[in-house]
Amino acid sequence: MNDLVDSKVYLNGEYLPLSEAKVSVLDRGFLFGDGVYEVIPAYFGRLFRMQDHLDRLQDSLTKIRLQLPYDFEQWMEILSPLLDKSKNQSIYLQITRGVAAKRDHAFPKNPIPTVFAMCSDIKPFAGVEAGVKALTMEDSRWEMCNVKATTLLANVLLRQQAVEQGCAEAILHRNGYVTEGAASNLFAVIDGILMTPEKTAEILPGITRKVIIELAQANDFELSEEIISLEALQAASEIWITSSTREIIPVIELDKKPVGDGIPGPVFNTMNKLFQQYKQSV
Ligand SMILES: Cc1ncc(COP(=O)(O)O)c(C=O)c1O
Repeated sequence: MNDLVDSKVYLNGEYLPLSEAKVSVLDRGFLFGDGVYEVIPAYFGRLFRMQDHLDRLQDSLTKIRLQLPYDFEQWMEILSPLLDKSKNQSIYLQITRGVAAKRDHAFPKNPIPTVFAMCSDIKPFAGVEAGVKALTMEDSRWEMCNVKATTLLANVLLRQQAVEQGCAEAILHRNGYVTEGAASNLFAVIDGILMTPEKTAEILPGITRKVIIELAQANDFELSEEIISLEALQAASEIWITSSTREIIPVIELDKKPVGDGIPGPVFNTMNKLFQQYKQSV
């Protein structure tokens, strides 16, 4: 984040350099991780699937019982000044339950949310061409993974464990079936069918996931949203992880064994082309 130090950020109605943006130590985001966030890509100044990101933000806010009165236009007004039209960037937007008079788990009366947004460049992810390695791990997160909560300690520990073993992602499983990555959704090609775990509270409803499903449907892929066992994943011919900043990344090695032929597969190559074309068309 060093490249961000002097960038302009938004904090509670003001635009200021990142180095001058300060939040109280009594902010509930700091004390409890009591907040939600979004990461919204912007290609050459245009926010990608903004309505989907705002719908998910609204859903996260509702689930944590926090209200914010901004509509689409107001969010556009707040976020647009952070963007640079000459680059691919992503906006990080975080909303917490604000500053309370004392540290107490129960909500303060009439909280004033803290609203923070910053922008950073999207650098092409190195793993997209060659593919990445991943490890499967027990999903140790809570039961509201459909909330994009800032409380990410389990995700942090899982991703770190993967990185320390030379892998790009931890692919998580519960009770013998896979859920998603530590910071990504999951797709697999199993017996020729493109599969992704169905949308439940155990996964984040990713916007990249949604776009891929739309593209698969529009292009007559055989597609299924269903439970995928860990065993089925381990026998998949292709595995991909997806997220707003990394887009679609092929996993070529799972638990130290090659996935399919150990190179990005043909379904990935087709979908990635469709995704890049779609990005440019919107
Ligand atoms: C746990 C988790 N699942 C899935 C995703 C992918 O969501 P999106 O495609 O909206 O970025 C993310 C993104 O960071 C994530 O943290």
